[in-house]
Amino acid sequence: MRSYGNPAVMSTKGTALTLLVLSGLIAIGNALRCNCTNCESSGYECETDGACMASTSNIAGVEQHVRICIARDKLMPPGQPFYCLSAEGYLNTHCCYSDYCNSVDLKVPKVSRLPAIESALSSWGPVELVAVIAGPIILVCLLLIVGVLVFQHHQRTYNHRQRLDVEDPSCDHLYLAKDKTLQDLIFDLSTSGSGSGLPLFVQRTVARTIVLQEIIGKGRFGEVWRGKWRGGDVAVKIFSSREERSWFREAEIYQTIMLRHENILGFIAADNKDNGTWTQLWLVSDYHEHGSLFDYLNCYSVTIEGMIKLALSAASGLAHLHMEILGTQGKPGIAHRDLKSKNILVKKNGTCAIADLGLAVRHESSTDTIDIAPNQRVGTKRYMAPEVLDETINMKHFDSFKCADIYALGLVYWEIARRGSAGGVHEDYQLPYYDLVPPDPSIEEMRKVVCDQRLRPTVPNWWQSYEALRVMGKIMRECWYSNGAARLTALRIKKTLSQLSVLEDVKM
Ligand SMILES: *[C@@H]1O[C@H](CO)[C@@H](O)[C@H](O)[C@H]1NC(C)=O
Repeated sequence: MRSYGNPAVMSTKGTALTLLVLSGLIAIGNALRCNCTNCESSGYECETDGACMASTSNIAGVEQHVRICIARDKLMPPGQPFYCLSAEGYLNTHCCYSDYCNSVDLKVPKVSRLPAIESALSSWGPVELVAVIAGPIILVCLLLIVGVLVFQHHQRTYNHRQRLDVEDPSCDHLYLAKDKTLQDLIFDLSTSGSGSGLPLFVQRTVARTIVLQEIIGKGRFGEVWRGKWRGGDVAVKIFSSREERSWFREAEIYQTIMLRHENILGFIAADNKDNGTWTQLWLVSDYHEHGSLFDYLNCYSVTIEGMIKLALSAASGLAHLHMEILGTQGKPGIAHRDLKSKNILVKKNGTCAIADLGLAVRHESSTDTIDIAPNQRVGTKRYMAPEVLDETINMKHFDSFKCADIYALGLVYWEIARRGSAGGVHEDYQLPYYDLVPPDPSIEEMRKVVCDQRLRPTVPNWWQSYEALRVMGKIMRECWYSNGAARLTALRIKKTLSQLSVLEDVKM
């Protein structure tokens, strides 16, 4: 009835398109062997640099299975990989990227006619027949119109993103002219107004010309390296292949339109390199030599001015993340869900950049839903809000996740403020709840302290004698309420700290 190249099918699949833009990232690697139903000469097999495809259609009641190879250039540009789209009900298409992975028998939804309908059909007059035939057609037309409208809406939202994602080698050299540094690239990017990152092919090219220098960190996902690209430093987060989901999620979040902000880690590129035996998943970002806020506070105490700079910039970053901006140049609201001093970086100028968006969730305000099913207790136990620890958090409500972020921000502020020296006095670095729970506490241990005993980190009395520390202490307490909804918002904190920075004459 309809072929899979039909644009009408594609238009109803606006979301599939966006997904495929990213899945284009996965579809690279060495020659792939696939089953092939029309290759008698080569033993019903074929080889490709693209994807294997299995498709099933129901032609005049007979199930037809087709298995073929799809060349990489047929998958690209990622803007139009319609070979892989599935139009449920008419035919079923499945693309995959491992050897013989299309050796599957897809099922066609059965169109079984009941005997009662059979006999009714034969006894119907022409009017009934016309009604029965025209009815569904009108319905399909209506659905198509709705589909086109939805697609146009999507087009508007992702307009800029798609324009840049089209893989056009002719502008490769335009972007990557020999003398261009990363700063130039990022500058081009911010002036092009795309707001969603470098085009994917540029990302890949940049990633593949980075020379790794030294390992600078390890985490649950893999390793972080310092690398060099055209003389400049970059940070490369290398995920182990079983963390593919985290890599994909973080890359996906970073490609969010208009996420770029001076207090959010600057994302440069995502890439997956296949070295034959396994896939290396890379995320490339700005490099900050001070490392994480955790490392920084461990090494240095901070002045009152330094403390305000760190706190205000962290609040600005979080406020930007949380904020929904409407319009084509807008962004969805994003909740971080794993905020802690180890996930915040300190820039050269003494301000913060929020990093590690692998657990973040986005808010779809039009439908008031969250873009992925949020699993209940993720993140770092020590920083989990009371409602996360005792599982009373309302996960249908996006704002609950923002409130949980604020609680964690309050703990980070406590870590910063302890290192703030006033009158020559400051305290040693400690993690929040260091005096109440063992290192690497369990959820149960945290819950006892935070929910049952309702304890919070100690705010020393002497802070009251210094305006900046007094304000910080007050903000912390208002971040730590057991009732999430009672907590301050990131924007409120940002405003309070801005006023404080004016009062204390801090130059940002
Ligand atoms: C696909 O190819 C493999 C390897 O040649 C073969 O073992 C398998 O039976 C094939 N599957 C189908 C459904 O033809």
